[in-house]
Amino acid sequence: MKIRFFVSALFALLLPITARAAEDVVFADFEGTDYAGWTAAGTAFGSEPAQGTLPGQMAVEGFAGRGLVNSFHNGDKGTGRLTSPEFKIERRWVGFLIGGGGFAEKTCVNLLVGGKVVRTATGPNVKPGGSERLERGSWEVAELAGKTARMEIVDEATGGWGHVNVDQIVFTDAKPPQAPGLVKKEIAITQRYLHFPVKTGAAKHKVRVVVDGKVERMFDIELAEEKADWLAPLDAGAWQGRTVTVEVDRLTDDSGAWALMTQAATPQGQEGLYSEPLRPQLHFSPARGWTNDPNGCVYFGGEYHLFFQHNPYGWAWGNMTWGHAVSPDLLHWREMGDVLHEDAFGPMFSGSAVVDARNTSGFGSAGKPPLVLLYTAAGHPTVQCAASSTDGRTFAKYSGNPVVKEFTDGNRDPKVIWHEPTHRWVMVLYVGREKKHTVQILTSPNLRDWTPASVVDGGMAPDSFLYECPDFFELPVNGDAKTRKWVLLGANSEYVVGRFDGTTFTPETGKLPGQQGRNFYAPQTFSDEPKGRRVQIGWMQAATPGMPFNQCMSVPMELGLVSTEDGPRMTRKPVAEWDALSGEVRSGGTPQLLPGAANPFAGVEIDHAEVRIGGIVTAGTTVVLDVRGTPVTWNADTQELTVGPVKTKAPLAKGRLDLHVIVDRSTIEVFTSGGLVYVPLAVLPAAGNKTLSLKVEGAAGAGAQLDLALARLLQPVWPGK
Ligand code: FRU
Repeated sequence: MKIRFFVSALFALLLPITARAAEDVVFADFEGTDYAGWTAAGTAFGSEPAQGTLPGQMAVEGFAGRGLVNSFHNGDKGTGRLTSPEFKIERRWVGFLIGGGGFAEKTCVNLLVGGKVVRTATGPNVKPGGSERLERGSWEVAELAGKTARMEIVDEATGGWGHVNVDQIVFTDAKPPQAPGLVKKEIAITQRYLHFPVKTGAAKHKVRVVVDGKVERMFDIELAEEKADWLAPLDAGAWQGRTVTVEVDRLTDDSGAWALMTQAATPQGQEGLYSEPLRPQLHFSPARGWTNDPNGCVYFGGEYHLFFQHNPYGWAWGNMTWGHAVSPDLLHWREMGDVLHEDAFGPMFSGSAVVDARNTSGFGSAGKPPLVLLYTAAGHPTVQCAASSTDGRTFAKYSGNPVVKEFTDGNRDPKVIWHEPTHRWVMVLYVGREKKHTVQILTSPNLRDWTPASVVDGGMAPDSFLYECPDFFELPVNGDAKTRKWVLLGANSEYVVGRFDGTTFTPETGKLPGQQGRNFYAPQTFSDEPKGRRVQIGWMQAATPGMPFNQCMSVPMELGLVSTEDGPRMTRKPVAEWDALSGEVRSGGTPQLLPGAANPFAGVEIDHAEVRIGGIVTAGTTVVLDVRGTPVTWNADTQELTVGPVKTKAPLAKGRLDLHVIVDRSTIEVFTSGGLVYVPLAVLPAAGNKTLSLKVEGAAGAGAQLDLALARLLQPVWPGK
């Protein structure tokens, strides 16, 4: 029954050895057939170390050798205490492995001096789930040097996780490596931005920023522990002069990540912002992090507002937050910082914004109509909530949230409009119902109290549509304001045209095809557009690998509705503001192009630009453009357009071919057929490929007489550029 002392050669090799460091002492490894001098009392410990997992227990892992102390004898019900022989403290540190219950004083290992507990540690688990893995623990005990001590392992808990596992108790002079765990650090906020270092692909951690006991931010982050790919600036302005607690799970106290969490008055690490190699120069993208859906597109306070699904802390989707940008002209955006952060209702999913001009909500004040955001909080349940602002800068969540309770799990994306004839608000909401996609229509007098009005059935897969992000608006037919039709549109941009009486939508068409390209999703139209237009902007699913940001928005487009032989169809063209973008024009002349003719754009180099080709094309001719390596062709016989891998019907408009191509560093968009055809596509032109070429192909007699052939090398839309 002697305490076994021996040197752990391996341990000594792995740890830095100082000249005066004494050898490590393995005080207890619980490898024997009895407790080797330790005294067991009660029912939890049995009479000898366990050989791993006990009956009825989840698999126990992470212990050293074959044996360990496992107080799951008699399950969680068993209680008791295992006490060591006396020893003298002669090393700076006590290291051990511990797992099981996480209850202070109830499932723990203690160090006792003079019968008093001077150090204690518990396992990690306090609620169902969790893990039976043992992790490293340690105590620094230098101040207790020379004292006589005992250790005890306590199991006084009987409910779930009412047991403790301990192994490999070592006395050492070298600080034992720390087990990653939940680390909490107090940080005095002295500057507006607290940065979090991101390294794409690094281990993910859960972070919480707690201020005065309230969780103000919670997010997952691939945390850089050495060199960051980029810094995520967290606006801590509201807590300046206070101390916040930053909690990070699965991290060590001495991780390099802590030193990288720097503060500064402005976002750091943004040298070259908006000049990054794959940064779209003509499209909105977030300064840092990921975006998907456009949200809350609205004109308010003399400017356009674009909110957007934002992951401020990572390159991929996650941590859904509402970012915010403003623009005078829908093209030059200035990012204003995030406005809706995850809360107890869940992450902030998509939604919309309206100007409550009559202050029906009461969120405004005299002469100050509120801007109201309606958004999805995607927790369990998933609910719809409201937030408001009177200055278009600071937003407050409504204290009576949620405003719409869950219909079915995953219901989301409220789009709200004012319905003048019935004088009330109308919301369209995506609701999945028994494998069907449906749009729930609700009405409200005040944006706070919502009443279900009717349901539009989007059908069953694979023919279903109206999946996510519905949009609902009226459009004049053929530009005639007196004949108006309602359009109900889903995330994939397919739509139906019909009538709406304020309660029920009556379709007058079947499902109509949306845009003809790829990578365009969840578009949203602007509310309160001052020019009375319907302006749509969509998410371009265009990845930008290696960049500190990811994805972008489409060009903003004005929508129309025209009668065709096939019935009413939606048209799109870049908003008129687009034409006012400044840029240098490179003319290709107005050539008669014959097969074999020279490229009229010879010598023209483009990076981000628009290209316009228009004129009369003879039968038997294919017009072939090469736009930075993406072929764009139109065939006069088949009346088909191809853009890279995409092929679509593209009839002539009034007998003319008109191609409007917008190329950027991660996208290409082609408009033609009088706006009936819009082909968006994610492309990554090679950085060095600045080609613009034009030719026609066909047999003798083929050709085109162009009256428009130009490229505009546009100025970037970013601030300071
Ligand atoms: C569409 C979507 C929405 C949801 C959001 C979450 O892309 O799935 O339905 O609200 O993205 O980011």
